[in-house]
Amino acid sequence: MSKTAPVVAPTLAEFEATHENVSQVAIQTPVLHSNYLSELVGHDVELKCENLQRTGAYKIRGAFNIISKLSAAERKKGVVAASAGNHAQGVALAARNLGIKATIFMPVGASLPKLQATENYGAEVVLTGSIFSETLKAAQAHAAKKGAIFIPPYDHMDVVLGQGTVGLEILDQVADVNTIVVAIGGGGLAAGLAVSAKLKAAQQGRKIKVIGVQSEHAAPYVPSLKTGKLTELTITRTIADGIAVGKPGRIPFELIKQYVDKVVTVSDDEIAKAIVVLMERAKQVVEPAGAVAVAALMSGAIKPRGKTVAVLSGGNIDPLLMQKVIGHGLAASERYTTISVMLPDRPGQLVKTAEAIAAAHGNVVEVLHTRHGKGLEISEVELRMSVETTGHDHRQRVLKALHDAGLKARIEAE
Ligand SMILES: Cc1ncc(COP(=O)(O)O)c(C=O)c1O
Repeated sequence: MSKTAPVVAPTLAEFEATHENVSQVAIQTPVLHSNYLSELVGHDVELKCENLQRTGAYKIRGAFNIISKLSAAERKKGVVAASAGNHAQGVALAARNLGIKATIFMPVGASLPKLQATENYGAEVVLTGSIFSETLKAAQAHAAKKGAIFIPPYDHMDVVLGQGTVGLEILDQVADVNTIVVAIGGGGLAAGLAVSAKLKAAQQGRKIKVIGVQSEHAAPYVPSLKTGKLTELTITRTIADGIAVGKPGRIPFELIKQYVDKVVTVSDDEIAKAIVVLMERAKQVVEPAGAVAVAALMSGAIKPRGKTVAVLSGGNIDPLLMQKVIGHGLAASERYTTISVMLPDRPGQLVKTAEAIAAAHGNVVEVLHTRHGKGLEISEVELRMSVETTGHDHRQRVLKALHDAGLKARIEAE
């Protein structure tokens, strides 16, 4: 397809044939009911668990589909991709299954688990570039020099078709689905899913809604859909690195324009809270980009009507990041609070503070006792404590107990 050829949506038959093709490597991931989220939003919420997909993300579907269509001559040349994570693993496993050499370019500093997983699938990993655009350039230059086939992450119809097979499965697994919520980066997943799910629903004489979710730090689809033109934005740092894309893909954009009903954004705090809820309530390990659909439901950015499916698009989270995200998510949910108390520098004050917190059933997990805090009187000390609470109301009860005990306590900004 040339760069400017009009984008024609695939047919249901094409998606069904693609599903048969990708089923050689991808599994039909389970759909789990979430009582917690259903009660929260007032409608049934189901989770489509692509975090449990082979390689830990839906990306294997598109990667396998495009690579499986290469000719024998192209296969001999090998494939090249640039990715910091899920696309890398998808291309590596797809290539291994098809007996093709894969060279994956990853940015310097890519997470170790993702790098090791990519190597374990048999790919050669080249670490280059401090920002992703440099990595991409190096990968494309390598492909051109070696005559290898560059595998794009989202802007190719065979990739869109592969990712769209998630939509067919949802319609099979959740017959009465009303709304599907899905992450958008470059747009391959949302484009394929929206077209396939809507075509399948139409075949059953029904209509469904598809809502896309971007990180508020990287949301070029919002202005692009408003103006109808591909708009590039400078992205800022987000924990949802998997969807940190500054410009929509041309093919996904044309399909999303027609088939996705709405695109909303979520903050990093909302994503962190969603990750904690998914782990604690649904027992699912989900990476930030994979949790944005649930974040949008929890934040109220989406007010669904009827049975809703949130796609958990990936679960590849570095344990070190998970540790940070949990701390952040707990703090954002007011489950983990830093309280500062200015105490007169006299014996017995620590006990008094500890008793007040214990009486309100708070649990102190960390303490810093200092004479050098800002704003301290010469006869005062600052006691800074991290306290576990069960949420907003409990946090307020702990603060009140300290005030009732006559202590100068305040909650520190996280
Ligand atoms: C976990 C996860 N979810 C969603 C996306 C969004 O993908 P797309 O570029 O197809 O919109 C990505 C992209 O890598 C991802 O890794």
